[in-house]
This record gives sequence, structure tokens and C-alpha cells, in this order.
Amino acid sequence: MMDWTDRHCRYLHRLMSKHTLLYTEMVTSPALVRGGALHLLDHNPQEHPVALQLGGSDPAELAEAARLGAQAGYDEINLNVGCPSDRVQSGSFGAVLMEQPALVAKCVAAMRRAVDVEVTVKCRIGVDDQDPETVLPEFLAHIVGAGCERVTIHARKAWLKGLSPKENRDIPPLDYDLVHRMKGLFSNLHISVNGGITSLDQAQAFLDGGLDGVMIGRSAYHSPADILCQADRRIYGQGEDTTAEDTVAQMLPYVDAHIASGGRLNQITRHMMGLFAGRPGARIWRRMLSENASGPQADRQVLVDALDAMQTLAEAQKAV
Ligand SMILES: Cc1cc2nc3c(=O)[nH]c(=O)nc-3n(C[C@H](O)[C@H](O)[C@H](O)COP(=O)(O)O)c2cc1C
Repeated sequence: MMDWTDRHCRYLHRLMSKHTLLYTEMVTSPALVRGGALHLLDHNPQEHPVALQLGGSDPAELAEAARLGAQAGYDEINLNVGCPSDRVQSGSFGAVLMEQPALVAKCVAAMRRAVDVEVTVKCRIGVDDQDPETVLPEFLAHIVGAGCERVTIHARKAWLKGLSPKENRDIPPLDYDLVHRMKGLFSNLHISVNGGITSLDQAQAFLDGGLDGVMIGRSAYHSPADILCQADRRIYGQGEDTTAEDTVAQMLPYVDAHIASGGRLNQITRHMMGLFAGRPGARIWRRMLSENASGPQADRQVLVDALDAMQTLAEAQKAV
């Protein structure tokens, strides 16, 4: 998620779940290919499985960007056909490409020719006054024809005229039934649903209902432990539950290495604010991180102290 997630966030999330597939924020093909911004591909080997999401609309340029991504070690290259921001519209990519399924198919085909790893698509159900009932199956038929075997559908339209990117994540109504119907029409296509999913129970219900996968965005960011700590056991049937406390302990060497290489603590802790969301002491955890993690001298001790304060408070509350 642009401006929210980054490699530190993915490292944190990977500690909580070994099996969930993590995605980068959208990286544009012009930035990689024309701008040479290869640092945007930096990631930690621990992050796997991890997909690189690309934004673009030029088949040759996307193919080159995909090649760079695969060479950098990403397990999957995903094409963004869902982002509604103005900046992206002006570059003619993101959700506006729902109006050009033939071009998207060309992009997918070119990317597939360029790499051995899987090429996938994330899309909306339509944009503006398009009728999703007709547009979405047409769109899926095009990408399937180009060899795409896996798609994630954000189950709401993007209204490109009139809504901000933020409003476009909440205001257009969700249509999960349409996504289920697409699975009926495209039984060989691996279909994941996205949009408004806030718990593993809800995710499991989609899987039980016949969908192949579930993508969780904002809830995984704001309450990562609720979504990720039980995901391996409950969704993948493999591995043990993890805890937020263990995750903090496992982050400490990563924090040390980041600071030793000249980084700031708050570049990492900004992703850890919600780690104890909904639990006793969550507020003191958040407060101690926001007050203490930004100074140039801040190091792992900030996390150790915040955890300690949180646990002391939680114990005291239990005793009352
Ligand atoms: C701050 C922010 C940045 C986002 N950036 C991206 C992005 O780079 N690529 C993408 O496919 N979706 C992006 N999204 C959309 C989410 O991936 C997701 O489709 C949307 O939030 C709905 O799912 P959710 O209700 O689980 O969050 C972003 C969402 C937010 C809140």
C-alpha cells in the first residue's frame, strides 16, 4: 500500500506468518525503467513469498520492469489495475485500465514473455459508469486469454471522476456476489477477493464459499496480529500461531542492523503501532513508540521499554 507499507513492514508481517503472500506497494514501470530507481526493488530475503506490484500501461516497459523484478528475486509480478489516484490516471495506468482490457492483455502477455515467475493482476469490478456485470467478465476473459492464471478483485468500482483515492476505498459499494459469480464463470482462474475484509473468520467464509484466496489490506496494516498471527494454522493448516510479543523480540536484531546501517528506529516502529491493537496496554505501547522512537539516538531499548510498560499495565489491569 503506497505510503504505508515498505520492506520493514513486510519483514514485520513475515515474522507473524510464514505462508501469507505479501505484496509490495505499487512501483511504476516508468520509475524502474526510465528512472532507473532500482532501489525500489530492495527487499529482504526473509520476505518470501513476496510479489512485486507494478503500475504501468506500456507493454514493453512493463515487460522490462517485470524482468528487473524477477531478477531482483520477486516470486510473482502483479499488475495494478485498481489504483484510482489522479497521478496514476494521468499516467494512464491503475484503475483507468479497466476501460482498456485489450491493452491490459497485451501488457500481461508481454510481462509473461519476459519472466518465468507468475504474472497476476489486481483489478476493480469496473470504473465510473461501466456496468460491472458485463465489464468484469470481459476483462477477465481478456487477461485469461493472455495467460493470467491468478487475479485479485477489489470488489468495488473506482469512481475516477469525483472521488478521492481514499473515498474510492470506502464509498463505492462492495459487490462480493459478483466476485463469487466470476468464480462460477472462470472456474480455472484463481480468484482472490479484496475489499473490506477485517478478520480471519470473514476470510475463511470466502474460502468456504468457493473463492481461492483473500487479500487483506488496511486491517492487516492496522491490526497485524489479529490477521497474521493465526493465519498459518487457520488458513494454511501449517505451523503454529505466533504472538505479538514474540514478534517484537524477533524484530530487535533487525532493528539493530537497521540502525547500525544508518537508519532511524521510527522507520520501522511506524509499522508496529497497531501490534497490540485491542489489547490492554495498547495505548501505552503506541504512546511510547510515538514519543520515543523518532530521536536520532533511539534504539531497540524503546521497544523493550514499551513492551515492558505495556505488560506491566496489562498485569495490573488483570489484578484489579
Ligand atoms: C494507503 C493505501 C495505499 C494503497 N496502495 C495500494 C497499492 O499500491 N496497490 C494496490 O493494489 N492497492 C493499494 N491500496 C488498496 C488496497 O490494496 C486495497 O485494495 C483496499 O484498501 C481495499 O482492501 P482493504 O479493505 O482490505 O484495505 C492502497 C490502500 C491504502 C489504504
